[in-house]
Amino acid sequence: MKRRDHRRKLIAGNWKMNGLLAEAMQFVADLKENPAPEHVEVALMPPYTLLHPLHDALEEKGIRLGAQNVYFESKGAFTGSISAMMLRDAGCHYVILGHSERRNIMGETDKVEKAKLAAAWSAGLEPILCIGESLEQRKAGETNQHLHRQLQVLKDAPDNAPLTVAYEPIWAIGTGLTPTPEQIVETHAYIHEVLGDLNIDCRVLYGGSANPDNAKDILSCRGVEGLLVGGASLKAESFSRMIAAAADVAGSNS
Ligand code: PGA
Repeated sequence: MKRRDHRRKLIAGNWKMNGLLAEAMQFVADLKENPAPEHVEVALMPPYTLLHPLHDALEEKGIRLGAQNVYFESKGAFTGSISAMMLRDAGCHYVILGHSERRNIMGETDKVEKAKLAAAWSAGLEPILCIGESLEQRKAGETNQHLHRQLQVLKDAPDNAPLTVAYEPIWAIGTGLTPTPEQIVETHAYIHEVLGDLNIDCRVLYGGSANPDNAKDILSCRGVEGLLVGGASLKAESFSRMIAAAADVAGSNS
């Protein structure tokens, strides 16, 4: 695996199933001219329908485009599915894989995630692989064991394959709850350790109820190299404040 510039924080907005064309255009218009400062990378993952319409406007503002999912087959009779090459064709750099909503609501398994990773890499996309424990698993002391298992999909990852991992505790997603800084530091350290054992050096994001008020504290936790932001990425004002928080933290670390 290629060594990444870990100091460059990534702020990635996951719009989930939100956003119509007019709202998306308003979002971009409301963003500052150059919202991505030095040391901060910014990305947005709108729904498929907004990938093409948003591409040029985001590129102009230095924001990378990503998708929220992909199908693992490359083409053919798979009605309703979108391939990795189609995402590349729409100008995507990133694709989110293994989000807990896809695992829990759509029943995606680690086997499916592994096939999607391979598809993403073969099309030149950078996957953002989401992992995270349920509240029951955390309470039972099974967090590390669960994360370790989820990370095994990376076992045969090709050398130099682009990759970001996002730690998203399921109980923190959309709930307003976040782990304590100690829990974040501890869990990120464990994830980096498992990645190290797999000979993978990649950026690890935090996700789950990150917002403009807690962004700086979370980004200051050791081992946190960016945020995957759901609800707070839907408005340009709150998303911009989170980018500014990342710039502050990156600046004070440089
Ligand atoms: P949230 O979602 O920020 O709304 O909690 C994060 C995510 O699911 O990626």
